[in-house]
Amino acid sequence: MSDSLPTPPPPTEDIDHDILIEGHTYDGIQEYDNPLPGWWKWIFILSIVYAVPYTIWYHFMDGNTVYDKYKVDEAAKAARIAAMPEVETSDNALFAMLQDDAALKAGQAIYDANCAVCHQKDGGGLVGPNLTDDHYINVKSLADIPKIVEEGVIAKGMTPWKGILDPKQIAQVSAYVASMRGTTPDATKAKAAEGEVIPPWGP
Ligand code: HEC
Repeated sequence: MSDSLPTPPPPTEDIDHDILIEGHTYDGIQEYDNPLPGWWKWIFILSIVYAVPYTIWYHFMDGNTVYDKYKVDEAAKAARIAAMPEVETSDNALFAMLQDDAALKAGQAIYDANCAVCHQKDGGGLVGPNLTDDHYINVKSLADIPKIVEEGVIAKGMTPWKGILDPKQIAQVSAYVASMRGTTPDATKAKAAEGEVIPPWGP
């Protein structure tokens, strides 16, 4: 095999002999000791120098880490949720809301903006289940809807809305979701029923 390799040309005179590594010729390739550019070396050196105070400050002293910032954000979120006024979401309260056109209209706007991506605008279901039939996976009565909306079902892909929507919005969107039951979504796109048949909404 090596017989068929071309013989490398001898190093010519215009080669910088400082970077030539004598005798390092393999398979016809002559190795040179090309130095890295100065700017590259300086970035490398500065990053090592920078790492020393960085490690001391963030790991052994009281530098504000990303985790500290996360804890501050979480505390602010908890405070924001605690400050939100409570809204009654019993079976009774939601049943009354089902007759309240203004609440349903507000709920529809919240639904279209936040929920339709997964449940479709007409409630036929896509990522999430069909919300128009009599079958429900997690819901037995009206009051279960706001619980699911608040807490989500993270393992199944239903996002929790607590702290994102305020309690009044959660009540309104829950009433709107309840009002979709019995409507007829686009049959070509709607998902098949999932879960158990539950009794009609009641107070
Ligand atoms: C990222 C996708 C996604 C978004 C956004 C989403 N959902 Fe869901 N939702 C799901 C999935 C998936 C389920 C099914 C959970 C399960 O299988 O237990 C679900 C379940 C539900 C259920 C319970 C249905 C049942 O049969 O038990 C309700 C009610 C519901 N969602 C309402 C909402 C509302 C209201 C919003 C908007 C505020 C919303 N969802 C936004 C994916 C989503």
